[in-house]
Amino acid sequence: MIPINMPQIGEEEAQAVLDVIRKGPLTNALGAGPKVVEFERNYAKFAGVKHAIAMNTGTAALHAAIAAVGIKQGDEVILPSFTFVATAEAVVLAGATPVFADIDPDTYNLSPASVKKALTNRTKAILPVDLYGFSADMKPLREIAQNHGIAVLEDAAQAHGTTYEGKPAGAFSDAACWSLYASKNMTTGEGGMVTTDNDQIAETLRMVRTHGEKAKYASLMLGTNYRMSELQAAIGIIQLHKLPSFVAKRRQNAQQLTSILQQSNKLVLPYETSDRQHSWYLYTARLKDSTETQRNKLLEELKKAGIGAEAYYVNPVHQMPFYRENFGGTDLPETQTAAKQVFSLPIHPGVTSEQVEFIGKTVLSLI
Ligand SMILES: Cc1ncc(COP(=O)(O)O)c(C=O)c1O
Repeated sequence: MIPINMPQIGEEEAQAVLDVIRKGPLTNALGAGPKVVEFERNYAKFAGVKHAIAMNTGTAALHAAIAAVGIKQGDEVILPSFTFVATAEAVVLAGATPVFADIDPDTYNLSPASVKKALTNRTKAILPVDLYGFSADMKPLREIAQNHGIAVLEDAAQAHGTTYEGKPAGAFSDAACWSLYASKNMTTGEGGMVTTDNDQIAETLRMVRTHGEKAKYASLMLGTNYRMSELQAAIGIIQLHKLPSFVAKRRQNAQQLTSILQQSNKLVLPYETSDRQHSWYLYTARLKDSTETQRNKLLEELKKAGIGAEAYYVNPVHQMPFYRENFGGTDLPETQTAAKQVFSLPIHPGVTSEQVEFIGKTVLSLI
C-alpha cells in the first residue's frame, strides 16, 4: 500500500537523538533546554516572526494560544467545521464556545462572508485553518477582525511551506499554531509550535507551557505542562532544515499528478496561485457532483489497488455527536457537500514518479 503520508526520518535525526540521549539534558523544567531554544530560533526565522514557542502537540499549541490571547468562558470563537477535531477541541478546552462557519467551496477554507454572519458581541477571535496546506484567505479575515477589535489565531497545523502573498503561514494572524505530528510535512513524532510577532502573547505562551511559571514554584497564572522534550527538538532542528526539499518533492509530485488527472472533467483539482503557495500536505481532489457512496466506492477501489487514498474530513466537526449535542443547530451546506465529495491521494516525498503515474492512471480508470 502506498500510504497517504509517511515520516521522512533519516540517519541525521537518529544521530541527533542519540547525542541527546548520551549527553543530555532530556528536557528542561522551564521548557527551554538548549535544543528547544535552537529549534525555536530557527523556526521563528523560517516563519519570519519574532517568536516561536515549542509545545508538545499541535493541539497544545492551539489551546495555549487561545488561552494566551485571553479567551475565556462565555467567549465565542468562529472557526470552520471542515477541519480536524483538534481545532474545535482547543476552543472548548479554553472554556469558550466554538461557532462554526462555512467554507469557500473552491479552497475548502473558512469563508469570510460566512464569518461575518456568525459574528456576535461575544466573538473574541476568528480561527481559520490552512486546510490541506493551502492558506485561508487571511486578508479579508484580518480586516473583519480589525473592524471588530478581535484576534485572528491561525491553525497552521498543515501549513509547513504554505505562503500567502509571498509570506509564510502565520504572517497575517496574531498567533499561528503548528503541528509536528508524524504525518505532517515535518515532524518531531508528536510536537507543536506557536509563532507570533507579539511579545506579550509570546511571554504568556511560555508561562502557559510550563505551569504558569517564569521561575520554579512561583506560578503567576494558570498553566499546564505543554513542554517539548530535547529529543523532539533535536529531530525538529534537522527536519526544519530538510523541509524545503520535502515540500519541493511534494510539489513535483502534485504537478505530475495534476497533469494526469486534468484529462478528466469529473474532478476538481487542487491548485496554487502566484501569491498563494500550497504546502502540499494533502493532495485533495473533489469528485464532481458525486454522492458520498460514489466517493466512498472510489476510495475502496483505490485501496484495493494498493493506493492509500483517504477522505479528510468525512464527518465535519459540527456533526460529531459531542459538538452537535453541545454546540449544535448549524447548517453548513458547503462543508456538508465537500465532506461527501473530497478524497486525498498520496504525494509525500517517499512517493516515486512511477507511483504518481500509477496513482493518476488508476484514478482515471476508476472514474
Ligand atoms: C488542522 C489540524 N489542527 C490541529 C491538529 C492537531 O495537531 P496534533 O495532532 O499535533 O495535536 C492537526 C493535526 O493532527 C491538524 O491537522
